Amino acid sequence: MTATPSARAVAQYATTTGNLTARMALHAHGTNPQGWFAWLGERLPLTGDVLEVGAGTGELWRRLERRATGFRLTLTDFSSAMCDRLREVPGARVQRCDATHLPYADGCFDAVIANHMLYHLDDPDAALAEFARVLRPGGRLAVAVNGRDHLAEVDALGPVVDRPDMTAGFHLNGVTAETAPVRVAAHFTDVTVARYPDELAVPAVAPVLAYLASMVGPLTAAQESAARDVVQARIEAEGAFRVRKHTVLISAVRDSR
Ligand SMILES: C[S@@+](CC[C@H](N)C(=O)[O-])C[C@H]1O[C@@H](n2cnc3c(N)ncnc32)[C@H](O)[C@@H]1O
Repeated sequence: MTATPSARAVAQYATTTGNLTARMALHAHGTNPQGWFAWLGERLPLTGDVLEVGAGTGELWRRLERRATGFRLTLTDFSSAMCDRLREVPGARVQRCDATHLPYADGCFDAVIANHMLYHLDDPDAALAEFARVLRPGGRLAVAVNGRDHLAEVDALGPVVDRPDMTAGFHLNGVTAETAPVRVAAHFTDVTVARYPDELAVPAVAPVLAYLASMVGPLTAAQESAARDVVQARIEAEGAFRVRKHTVLISAVRDSR
């Protein structure tokens, strides 16, 4: 039986930050000199009361240290392991909660950020309704999600390690760059989409193996050897294991009614 998106998220994140940090380590090999968090930070509406849901380890706020002043920051995640890390972000209020049941009054935030988390939910539309509820009229939403071809070359390693189900890991609930704008527009106005230009050029096998293990659990010797052969051959032929990326930032406004 295939696990639901939320059940997978619980298995991957509830008690550890390790799977997330292995994935972020792969993205350190992006070819865009402006990293994702810096690019995102320039586009976030950071004024007043700002809420990030599914904030993970809070890496965004560590990278934006110099910009992160002049607003009140609330960070949430359903994972106790993530919340432990979030409590290290200076000045942030941290609360462990599910994105579909936010423990906040109506209209108490000026901005809500959901960065790479909406695709983990069984009911993403309930979360979008909840984001609209806690935003003030005119408040801003920022959602980052991936396209269907995001990390296609890594996904292609799923069958190599005998885990073809790995491919579906981030698309299980159907929230992608292609579908999310319409879903956001059901709850918000002024929806815009901006794509972050990047691809990965990974010069070594190890970060790819760590990424695979973060998705499917510890690799057996046979799985590791099979993946290593494919990735190493690509590095020898092309100088790096090249991987497509497709990430978009969807921005929207809570209407004034
Ligand atoms: C891919 S990580 C992204 C973390 C962070 N936003 C970032 O970009 O670095 C997804 C995060 O969403 C959290 N998450 C997944 N399902 C959630 C839910 N239903 N409610 C709250 N957080 C959730 C996970 O624990 C994890 O920290």
